[in-house]
Amino acid sequence: MAENLAELREQMGDSACCPLGKTRTNLVFGVGAPDADLMFVGEAPGANEDLKGEPFVGAAGQLLDKLLASIGLRRDQVYIANVLKCRPPGNRDPLPEEVERCKPYLMEQIRLIKPKVLATLGNHATKLILGTNVGITKLHGKQIMRPDYIVFPIYHPAAALYTPAYLAALEEDFLKLKGLLQEDIELPPEEPEQISLF
Ligand code: URA
Repeated sequence: MAENLAELREQMGDSACCPLGKTRTNLVFGVGAPDADLMFVGEAPGANEDLKGEPFVGAAGQLLDKLLASIGLRRDQVYIANVLKCRPPGNRDPLPEEVERCKPYLMEQIRLIKPKVLATLGNHATKLILGTNVGITKLHGKQIMRPDYIVFPIYHPAAALYTPAYLAALEEDFLKLKGLLQEDIELPPEEPEQISLF
């Protein structure tokens, strides 16, 4: 187990953990404050992220920056990572085996950062973190208590770029997120409660 994010990044190296390592340009580990209260989990790097080696630097990233600014935050005050660390060719959906191979690294990042709120962006991140098939349309804007953090699913910013209703929901959810970060919420001590929405 790594003692910090730099060590974890070093452990990952630049070798291919799965076949995606052979087609990507850069591994996109994550960016932001190592002790952030708020951590975002997106889906996978796109073309811009693959070239730059940083998550959310394209159009969806610019929207994420704007939404953060709307609640008085900058990206260097939060942590941003993805379900996958390598770009799937043509931006196709992550395959289940790719998600499984990459999952330990994301879970290690979460363990090291210890966020108060884990905001999952879209269906892929929400499904992985909550282990549910319930879609983002039902789950967005809800707080789901876990022993170590609160999961807060929200629409993926890329989905909101062309759909005004998703953008309105995202803006509203960011305001809830702001409130959540200001509240002192006690997390459940034992096993996660079952989500009653299913
Ligand atoms: N979409 C994602 O899910 N992650 C990124 O890093 C960029 C776009």
